[in-house]
This record gives sequence, C-alpha cells and structure tokens, in this order.
Amino acid sequence: MTNTTSSVWSTDDPVRAAAPLAGKTRYEVCVIGGGIAGLTTAYLLASEGKSVVVLDAKPAVAGGETEYTTAHLAWVLDDRFARVASIRGDEAAKLAAKSHRSAIDLIEEIVRREGIACDFKRLDGYLFPGSDGPEAVREEMLALTRLGLMFERVDRVPFPAGAVGPALRFRDNGQFHPLKYLGDIVGLIRKKGGVIHTDTQVVKMENGSPCVAHTKSGHTVTADAIVIATGSPFDAGLTLHFKLAAYNTYAIALEVPPGYVPPGLFWDTEDPYHYVRTAHGTGTEYLIVGGEDHKTGQAQDQKERWAALEAWTRASFPDAGPVRHHWSGQVFETPDGLGRIGLAPGWRDNLYVITGDSGTGMTHGTLGARLVADLILGRTNPFAGLYSPSRWMPGALKTLIEENANLAAQYTDWLTGSEVASAADIPKGHGAVVRDGLSKTAVYKDDKGQVHEMTAVCPHLGGIVQWNHGEKTWDCPCHGSRFSCTGEV
Ligand SMILES: Cc1cc2nc3c(=O)[nH]c(=O)nc-3n(C[C@H](O)[C@H](O)[C@H](O)COP(=O)(O)OP(=O)(O)OC[C@H]3O[C@@H](n4cnc5c(N)ncnc54)[C@H](O)[C@@H]3O)c2cc1C
Ligand code: FES
Repeated sequence: MTNTTSSVWSTDDPVRAAAPLAGKTRYEVCVIGGGIAGLTTAYLLASEGKSVVVLDAKPAVAGGETEYTTAHLAWVLDDRFARVASIRGDEAAKLAAKSHRSAIDLIEEIVRREGIACDFKRLDGYLFPGSDGPEAVREEMLALTRLGLMFERVDRVPFPAGAVGPALRFRDNGQFHPLKYLGDIVGLIRKKGGVIHTDTQVVKMENGSPCVAHTKSGHTVTADAIVIATGSPFDAGLTLHFKLAAYNTYAIALEVPPGYVPPGLFWDTEDPYHYVRTAHGTGTEYLIVGGEDHKTGQAQDQKERWAALEAWTRASFPDAGPVRHHWSGQVFETPDGLGRIGLAPGWRDNLYVITGDSGTGMTHGTLGARLVADLILGRTNPFAGLYSPSRWMPGALKTLIEENANLAAQYTDWLTGSEVASAADIPKGHGAVVRDGLSKTAVYKDDKGQVHEMTAVCPHLGGIVQWNHGEKTWDCPCHGSRFSCTGEV
C-alpha cells in the first residue's frame, strides 16, 4: 500500500475546474456544492430553461465526497428495509425502495439520452451474512416478503473463496464511473446555459425573495432559489445538524485478474458492513472494497482500518493482486436512514437542502436533485413527504438520543490534557492537540519539520478537532467538519 491516499476514480480533468465568482450576479437558481447532488440539480433545471449557477469551494467540481465514493447504484437500502420499516412504517419503506429505483432509472435515462460513456451497467446486488451470522439476513427476508419487494434467496454469494450464505439477490441495481458521468454533466450544464464557479466558498446566506449567497471573497449571487448541496448543510439552521451524524468510511482498490470477481454489488450484514464491487481502469480490473466506518473524529487508527479491509478481502479473494488505491471519506447518517431533502427547516420559501446521504449518496443525490428541481419548478414529487427535512420521526427518537448523547460527550475533550507535551514530541508529517492553559491548539509539523499552529476549536460550534493520521486532516467529532492540516475548511 502506498503512503498517499487517492480514490480509484481521481484524474486531473480540467473540465471540472472553472473561474471563481466575481462581482454581484443574478440567476434564477444558485446551487451551492458541485457534487452529484448539486450538479444533477443544475443539469435538470438548466434542461428546463432555468438560469443556473453552481458554486463550489474546491478548485474543481465533483471533488467532494463524490470523488471518494465507490459508486454502487443501489435501490436496496443501506440501513435495510426491516429497520426503515420499523421506524417509518411499511408504506414509507416501500416508497423509499421506489425512490432509489427511480434514481437509478434517471441516471440510466440521462446516460442514454446524452450518450455518456461512464461504464454504467445494471447488475445484481447481494446481501450476505457477515461474522454476525445469518440472523440479519433472515430478518431482512421476512421484511422484504411482508413489503412485497422483489428478491431471491440464493445459497451462497459467488465469491472465489470463503463464500457464505444464505444470501439475498436483488435485480436491477447498477454501477458507473462517477467522475466520467459528472464530467459530461458539467459539459451539458454549460451547453444548456448554466454557469459553474469553483474556488468559490459560500459563507453566508440571506433569506428573502430573492435570496442572496455571499462568498468568502465578498462576491454575491442573488437568486430566486438557493439549493444547498454541500453534503453537510452549512448555514441551513441548527436543527438539521442535530439530526445528522457524520461517519468516516474507508475503501481500497486491488488489482484482480480479469473475470476473477463475478459482476455484482455485495454487502454483508456486519456493523459496520463491507461493500464490494469491481471497476475497470485503463487495462486493469479492480476489486473495490469498503467498510470500517467510525464516527468522524472519533478514531485515529486509519492505517489499521485499511489493513483490516485488505485482510478481509484476501480471505474471500485469495488471488487478488496488490492494493493500488486506498482512501476514505465521509457519509452523513440520519436516524431513519433516509435523506433530508426539500425546503430547509426554519427558512421561508426559497432555500432548499439535499443532505443525509446515509451512505447511498449516488441515489440520494440523484433523487434529491429531481425532488428539489420539481419543487423549484412548482411541480409535485411523489417522494417530497418521505424526505421532508422537517419530518417528525417518533420511531427514530432512540437513535437520535443516542447520537446526541455521543455528540455531547465529545465536548468533554475541552477538559482533557495535551496529547503530547509539546510540539517537539510530534513526528514530521503528523499533528496533535496541545493544551496551553485554558485553550487548546492544533499543532501540525510538516514533512520539513516546520510547525503550524492553529486553534483546535472548531468554528462551527466549538468542538475540539482530532488529528486524522490517514488523511492528514483535522476532523471534528461533533458534527463532522473537516479541515486541512494547515486549517482550511
Ligand atoms: C468511501 C465512500 C464510499 C461510498 N460509497 C457509496 C456507494 O457505493 N454508493 C452511494 O450511493 N454512495 C456512496 N458513498 C456516499 C456518496 O459518495 C456521497 O453521499 C455523495 O458523493 C455525496 O454527494 P454530494 O453531492 O451530496 O456531496 P459532495 O460530493 O461532497 O459535494 C459537495 C460539494 O460542496 C462543496 N462545498 C461544501 N461547502 C461549500 C461551501 N460553503 N461553499 C461552496 N461549496 C461548498 C464541496 O467542495 C463539494 O464539492 C460513499 C462515500 C464514501 C466516502
Ligand atoms: S462540526 Fe460542529 S462543532 Fe465542529
């Protein structure tokens, strides 16, 4: 395994970069965040003749979590139907399956209509027992039968070794290359009159009709509607933050002999679960395996997590070759496993949010884009109630209380001492939090030995950041904000 992290999809595609926003501008819709959710929203609205601008803080769009995805396109819910039905009821669980199917259908339709070469294909998904035994598979089978959702029971998953069962097979899932897909979507947005600005961080929004987005460099977009598609919904009100829990998840891509791994998406029932698919690189076939999730900022053993993923993979795929890529990223879980999509709670009529990807942001982002575009265009959408950010979920109270108790516990970091006595004890290329009287300082020592000091207090709501050894970032354990080693958001 190399020392530096890189996603299996990463390229330096200049199409995704654009000039920063300058001046005072006016559009019908301002989309903040150029990941799959924001770019799909912009594409759908530009296709209907709306004047749209996309603003992204990074040097290129599709460089957020979308670059770090493993891009399973699944209608089978990560949180499993038995759980979603127990929290939201059977009808909601059925509607959720339908909504994720509609997202895969929409991606397929766009790929066909626009002739996008992004390796899109339909394939089967398999849920199989992990080290927790077959009980969860049985429980899910009962729920699926009750809900009338299609599945087949198979004896084993078709792995070369260590195949386990019984497993459940689900037809009509999909996979694609997310950056090839979004590279073309970017071109289509521009062709339809949409505008993209990168290196443009929005720091504040003004409510009203019209509403205004203010950038860090002092420029503005005035718009009839703003869509916050930033993964974590910055500046959209506190209520949303207390209903989202940020987790880090890890992935590796190993070179495998052609045809060694059968086509399919595979998920086991462990908590956290493993997720598996293949992908084609230039002349190379990859096996991509993910898992080892933990709450953001609440673990510092990143290298051990990638090693654990590799060990798990080699047990079922003994002929797999070397690990060529390893990386990690963030997902935002909601108490019922469904996204929060629609009008931002507490704001008036023109501020929309797409968040709470729950580990399935490819489909959540796509169905969220369709939903928000419909609301802006004044149309009804069959999934608006299911995903409403203001929904009341009495069935999810226990999870919500547990997550917020975990959140409250993170603030005790204010009371703890230094991780190291002084900056001298920090090895090159690492960081640590140092107590200085009543304050806490995040200290990073770069590869040349130069020390960079910054406050360890998260500007969001005052959590104390933790050093992430794997990605060399500062991660906040409270609501998941992440900062570069030198402190940029
Ligand atoms: C390892 C891993 C594996 C995954 N596997 C899958 C999978 O198999 N299937 C699946 O469906 N999902 C998967 N996911 C989840 C999925 O990748 C994400 O949910 C999805 O990419 C989120 O897309 P997004 O558009 O909402 O956010 P992002 O892609 O994160 O885009 C948000 C954008 O907003 C920008 N931004 C943030 N703040 C500001 C600001 N203030 N001003 C301007 N711009 C801002 C960021 O720069 C970023 O480009 C995985 C995630 C990870 C990390
Ligand atoms: S992310 Fe909320 S306090 Fe840091």
